[in-house]
Amino acid sequence: MASSASVSCPGYKARHVTEIGNGIQTSLMLNGPPCNIYGQDISELILDVSFDTNNRLHVHISDTANTQYQIPPSVISLNKGQKIDKQKGNFEFIHSHNRTTGFGFKVVRDSEVIFDTIGHVLVFEDQYLELTSSVPTDANIYGLGETPGWFRRNPYNTTITLWNRDTPALFEENGYGSHAVYMELRNNSKFHGCYLHNSHGMDVVLSDGSLQYRVLGGTLDLYFFAGPTALDVIDQYTQLVGRPNRIPFWALGFHNCRFGYTSVYEVNQVIANYSAARIPLEAAWTDIEYMEKYRDFTFDPQNFPLEEMQKQLDFLHEHGQKMVLIIDPAIHVNNEYGPYTRGQEQDVFMRNADGSEFIGQVWPGYTAFPDWFAANVSQWWNEELRRYFDKLQIDGMWIDMNEAASFCTGSCGSGEPIGKIPPLPWEKSPEPHRSLNTSNTFLVPPYAIHSRYIELSKMTLETTAVHANGIIDYHVHNLYGYMESKLTYEFLRNYRPNIRPFVLSRSTFAGSGAFISHWTGDNAATWQDMHLSIASMFEFGIFGIPMVGADICGFYQNATEELCARWIELGAFYPFSRSHNSLFAYPQEPYRWKSVAEAARRALGIRYTLLPYIYSCYQDAVERGWPVVRPLVFEYPSIDKVADNDRQLLVGNSILVSPVLSAGARTVEAFFPAGLWYSWYGSHVVIEASNNVVTLNAPLEHINVHIRGGQIVPTQHPEMTTEEVRQNDYELIVAVDANGAAAGQLYIDDGQTLDTPHRWIDFTFYERTLWIRQRSGQLAIRRPLSALVLLGVSGIHKVQVNGEYVQCAINSIGNHTEITGLNISLQTNSRLTLESIH
Ligand code: NOJ
Repeated sequence: MASSASVSCPGYKARHVTEIGNGIQTSLMLNGPPCNIYGQDISELILDVSFDTNNRLHVHISDTANTQYQIPPSVISLNKGQKIDKQKGNFEFIHSHNRTTGFGFKVVRDSEVIFDTIGHVLVFEDQYLELTSSVPTDANIYGLGETPGWFRRNPYNTTITLWNRDTPALFEENGYGSHAVYMELRNNSKFHGCYLHNSHGMDVVLSDGSLQYRVLGGTLDLYFFAGPTALDVIDQYTQLVGRPNRIPFWALGFHNCRFGYTSVYEVNQVIANYSAARIPLEAAWTDIEYMEKYRDFTFDPQNFPLEEMQKQLDFLHEHGQKMVLIIDPAIHVNNEYGPYTRGQEQDVFMRNADGSEFIGQVWPGYTAFPDWFAANVSQWWNEELRRYFDKLQIDGMWIDMNEAASFCTGSCGSGEPIGKIPPLPWEKSPEPHRSLNTSNTFLVPPYAIHSRYIELSKMTLETTAVHANGIIDYHVHNLYGYMESKLTYEFLRNYRPNIRPFVLSRSTFAGSGAFISHWTGDNAATWQDMHLSIASMFEFGIFGIPMVGADICGFYQNATEELCARWIELGAFYPFSRSHNSLFAYPQEPYRWKSVAEAARRALGIRYTLLPYIYSCYQDAVERGWPVVRPLVFEYPSIDKVADNDRQLLVGNSILVSPVLSAGARTVEAFFPAGLWYSWYGSHVVIEASNNVVTLNAPLEHINVHIRGGQIVPTQHPEMTTEEVRQNDYELIVAVDANGAAAGQLYIDDGQTLDTPHRWIDFTFYERTLWIRQRSGQLAIRRPLSALVLLGVSGIHKVQVNGEYVQCAINSIGNHTEITGLNISLQTNSRLTLESIH
């Protein structure tokens, strides 16, 4: 911990402790002469502890003068909860004084210390906060990002830097979003979580028994979550920062995009190619080239004329498909360009400290940047989007480059614009158009966080650029994408009342899940990046953004056929499943190679079969924050071996996917927790596992998928679009455990409106009887339950529904039985009794 300040700083001592029913308040005074190590020590602080809910404790250390920047509730409104009596919750807060290090505190959850700063010096300066907690040396810590890396953070030597950045997705480097939240598993038993509500740049350093925050300003606004399960922690966290937004059903279909399509006709051809190859395509996406000179809200009259785009949209809609287009926040500076002149008139753009307009460069050349704090910005953004949507009624929006990205550093509205194509990531990035004033601590803070770009303003807004409220970007940089997401989501909510918006955002912050879905940005077509995508999905599950996926087959570099086949197999199980690549790489739509096309048909066939199940999992995300795709450790915390397993993924709690992650492999070593696991395929071979690794065959076009014994999984017959799938009857896979029992659930609604009626249905199976029970809702369900696949059940002869024999076809093969030809309403409670041959 080389740059830890604690060694030479005095810490604090507590004075005037007041214990009240639901909290503790005390002032903290400097415990000696200031160290002023990375700024000015603040001599008097307030510690405010409140027991927010049974499962959430709030600890806030702020400056008494209240001048440190804090995220205003108008930007992120946390759901604070009703304070409870501290005797009643799961937490205890203990503070004490240590002679040398001063004030420290412990957070205790059910008699277990989960956060412990005692013996570590608290540093609280205007531009540097340092808080350290002791953690077990080999701590199991998950989360903190957006930072591509292995799911379990290396407890001995990891620095996670939060400073949003336009960057290729690079291993253990700061990326597009900031989420200062982690969860920790202790003793293979209970999880807890911790969130720091602070928008400043920061490092979170894990090293040999400690977790240390080093933050460039603001206050220490900490929330602790009691768990005890992983899903509980995410439930408690998303209750605070915002539950995931409700996505339209179609968003769960397969998406295609490429940076580099040259015309609307080429995209038309892509759409036709998918259909000819019988690979499902739900939405056709077009990147920045549809715009005229890369200017937002325009259409290139030559290659993407509006009339042709309209025809494409009509074609897509006639075939149950959708269109999504990209928009960047940066607005081309040009006095003949309406979005710019209207923005100027309404004073919505960022300014330099001297009051002039801040000008950066993005695709269109020189650009101004919307200031999401400006009084008129919502009105202006709504108006520009309204004009755009009035031209073309696209189905969803992709908001990119919102860190905010700029290809130059500093305000650079003079000299030659850098031009259309940005520097490639491996090339030298453009030099700043100004010399850096290193004495300005908001440009070069005394403590340098470990951002790849040492200069914080590099390739983004200048940290000294000013927002409408007088706040410089230094304090709110990480909120830029969040604020754009919120306004864009709100626009769609108003423009199409009651229709669920679909917005995909690159930059995110804590709570973004309430508005957007996310993809993990500019990865590369490498085996490692494919593998890392699993950890990234898990991470975004913790962040409360369950609708997440990576660019399938990789963005940069040329994908090989083998890699792309394996990636489409894995990507078919991403909650957000999209193939996308860059104009610097060869096209990689799945129909281009025989094996990739076959792999896509098979794996997407499974995805589309599972849509009712995946949608039900997503509803659990909406209601409780639960991630759709989960690591094994969330379900099996007691199994030591799965603590760092990011090679396999669970979809919900019932489907285990074991992808091939290396070149040349035709088998995969998969871990199976104790219990029964049925293969998805053919005769549904069962693995009777005892927490062991099994070598599975994995021919190139095949991905191993297993159904967990004890689970009931609702399905529908797969088709080319989600709309077609929704017309089909429901079926159930009943996979019994060693006791012959199973349970599951199904959520159904109209898949598009916000005030839709719904139905939650519970299924249980034991003693050869399936119970269908209504949990909630009044939706009129169009399709019946017509088939059952019973895994681990054989010898069935007859079926009774509610005590009456019914006509149906029964096919018992080996360890499983298929029953078809049923016609059971899912709107009433029913009982199916299966009779065996005696
Ligand atoms: C950067 C995005 O990450 C990428 O997905 C997109 O293709 C390019 N911008 C061009 O818009």
